[in-house]
Amino acid sequence: MISIQKNIDLKPYNTFGIQAKADHFVSLHTPDDLYELIQSDLFKNERHLILGGGSNLLLTQDFKGLVIHNNLKGITLVEENEDDLTLEVASGEPWHPFVVHCVNQNWGGIENLSLIPGTVGAAPMQNIGAYGVEICEVVENVTGIDLTTGTSRSFTNKECMFGYRESVFKKELKGKFFISSVTLTMSKKNHLLNTEYGAIKNTLHAMHITSPTIQSISDAVIAIRRRKLPDPSTIGNAGSFFKNPVITAPHYQSLKKIHPEIPGYLIENQLVKVPAAWLIEQCGWKGKRFGDAGVHQHQPLVLVNYNHASGEEIFSLAMNIRTSVQEKFDIELTPEVNII
Ligand code: FAD
Ligand code: EPU
Repeated sequence: MISIQKNIDLKPYNTFGIQAKADHFVSLHTPDDLYELIQSDLFKNERHLILGGGSNLLLTQDFKGLVIHNNLKGITLVEENEDDLTLEVASGEPWHPFVVHCVNQNWGGIENLSLIPGTVGAAPMQNIGAYGVEICEVVENVTGIDLTTGTSRSFTNKECMFGYRESVFKKELKGKFFISSVTLTMSKKNHLLNTEYGAIKNTLHAMHITSPTIQSISDAVIAIRRRKLPDPSTIGNAGSFFKNPVITAPHYQSLKKIHPEIPGYLIENQLVKVPAAWLIEQCGWKGKRFGDAGVHQHQPLVLVNYNHASGEEIFSLAMNIRTSVQEKFDIELTPEVNII
C-alpha cells in the first residue's frame, strides 16, 4: 500500500544537498506499489520525477509534481555455469554495496565501477563508467514499466543504445520509463581484468601488487576515488558536472597549435575526447568559490555546494563555465548531470 506525502524537503535526497520542495513524494518498495501508483489520479494528473540516490541531478527549483522514490530491493540468480553467472538486480539496490557483494564473491566485471554513488536502476540510465569500464559491458537487459502505457518492457543490451554517458533511457525515454531491474552477467573465473587506466596501474604498483585480482582492483579504484573526488556526505556534489567533450581531429589539431599541452584521446572516426577538467582549469575556474557554490580544488569538473548554495546558483556557475570554455576553445560543454 503506497503512502503519498505532501510538501517534502528534498535536501536529504540529493547529493548536491540542494534545498527544494516536492509537492508530492512517494516511496516504492515493491513492484505492486508501482502498479498501484500508476493507476492513481495523482500520478495521471501530475508531472513526475523518478528519484534514485539523487547523485546525478541538480534541483534548480521546487518540484511542482510527484517525486517517485525508488526502494525496490532484491538480487535474484537467473542462471549460473562454471564460467559465469547472471543476476537480476532490483533497481533500488544501492550500486556500491552491490559491487562490494560481487567483489567479495570474486565475481568479475564491475570492480572498476566501485564507489560510484546511486542506485542500480540509474546505472544504465547514463551507462555509468569509470577507470576504463562501462556498465554496458555486463548488462544483459533492462526491465521496467512504460509510464505512458503502464505496460512492462524489457530492453536487450543493444536496444538500450548505450553510448558514453548515454542510453535510450536518458534520451527519448527520459522520465517515461521506470527501470525496475537490471540483469547483468559476471565472470566466475578467467576474469577480464582492466588495469589499463594509468591511475590504476600506478596505484597497484604503489600497493606492491604484481598480480591484480578483482579485490585489489576494487581497492585501487576506491583509493583513487577517495583521493580525487569530494565525498558528498562532506561537500555537496554530483560527480562530473559536464561530459568530456568530443571534437573533430582537425579542431583538435588547430587547438594544439595554440595550446601545445592540450590533452586529447583519439576515439573512433577521427574524433578526439578532450578532458573537460583541463578546459575548465585553463579558463581559471579551478578552486573558485562564489558564496557557497564552487569549483572543486582538486577536480574542476566537479561543482560543489559548500553548504547553502541554491540549485540556481550552481546552475548559473555551470553556465558561466560553459560560456568561458566556448569562448576560449570553441568547445561546447554538455551537462552530464540531469537538470531539474
Ligand atoms: P539519480 O540522481 O536519482 O537519477 C539520475 C537520473 O536517472 C534522473 O534523471 C532520474 O530521473 C533517472 N532515474 C533514476 N532512477 C531511475 C529508474 N529506476 N528508472 C528510470 N530513470 C531513473 N557517474 C559515472 O558514470 N561515473 C562515475 O565515476 C561517477 N562518479 C560519481 C562520483 C560522485 C562523488 C557523485 C556524487 C556522482 C558520481 N557519478 C558518476 C554520477 C552518479 O553517481 C551516477 O550517475 C549514478 O548512476 C546516479 O544514480 P542515482 O540513483 O543517484 O540517480
Ligand atoms: N585534469 C586537469 N586538471 C585537474 C584534474 C584533471 O587538467 O585538476 C585533466 C587531466 O588531463 C587528467 C584529465 O583531466 O588526465 C582526466 O581527469 P580524471 O582522470 O580525473 O577523469 P575525468 O575525465 O575528469 C572521468 C569521468 C568520471 C570518472 C573518471 C575515471 C566523465 C565526465 N567523468 O573524469 O566520472 O570517474 O573519468 O574514469 O567522463 C562522473 O561521471 O560523474 C564521474 C566522476
